[in-house]
Amino acid sequence: MTRKPFLAGNWKMNLDRRSGVALAQALAARSVTWTGRDVAVFPPFVYLAEIARSLAGSSIAVGAQNVSDEKSGAFTGEVSAAMLKDVGATLVLCGHSERRHLYGEDDRLVNRKLHAALGAGLDVILCVGETAEERQSGSTEPRIGRQLTLGLAGVSEDDLERVTLAYEPVWAIGTGNNATPAQVGDVHSYIRGMLAGIYSDMASKAVRIQYGGSVKADNIKALMGVANVDGALVGGASLQSEAFLGIVEGAL
Ligand code: 13P
Repeated sequence: MTRKPFLAGNWKMNLDRRSGVALAQALAARSVTWTGRDVAVFPPFVYLAEIARSLAGSSIAVGAQNVSDEKSGAFTGEVSAAMLKDVGATLVLCGHSERRHLYGEDDRLVNRKLHAALGAGLDVILCVGETAEERQSGSTEPRIGRQLTLGLAGVSEDDLERVTLAYEPVWAIGTGNNATPAQVGDVHSYIRGMLAGIYSDMASKAVRIQYGGSVKADNIKALMGVANVDGALVGGASLQSEAFLGIVEGAL
């Protein structure tokens, strides 16, 4: 089973309107030469529509960093999956470690958000990952196993085709301290095995698993060379066109 590499840039709460559009335009201009890979960017909510317009006609997809678990109604400050779709998003991040740790999102809420997104026709990147303490205490696998089991609860094998997994060790995010290829390989193969247990061997082999955490142009090749690594979810290095292009173009 060959899986198409998937490189995604999570802009987090960075860039303004002008620099976001300039970045999108620079990526779109270069994307005409790209084959054999999927690329997506995740701008802040308020710029989604404009970035989607800047990328229209290119192969680059636009996603949202967050989504409400509710469909509509009196939920001040929230944004629904249907609204995201309405402005041109085709994907959403669920369970990013910053949502889990800074905003207290637990696995059940992550699961409800994932269902809201899939239900509205959006694809999902489900993020999982352990903290430094969990790794030190030997609980990396149970932690990730739980995030997968609860995060994917109620997701059918058919719908799994619209889900990408992202392994983002919390201690590697924004630290410049990325996981070693051996650590990444161990967790990715654990995730693949878990998916085979929950679904089937065939379904598991079709799922793409990205690595995220201090990915740069100079480490993407080594990471992509690891078994079961099918792409990257990039934070800091996705904010600057040359850095992100180096990752997208260095990935294969
Ligand atoms: P950095 O690439 O800045 O470490 O961030 C990773 C991340 O959180 C992507 O979602």
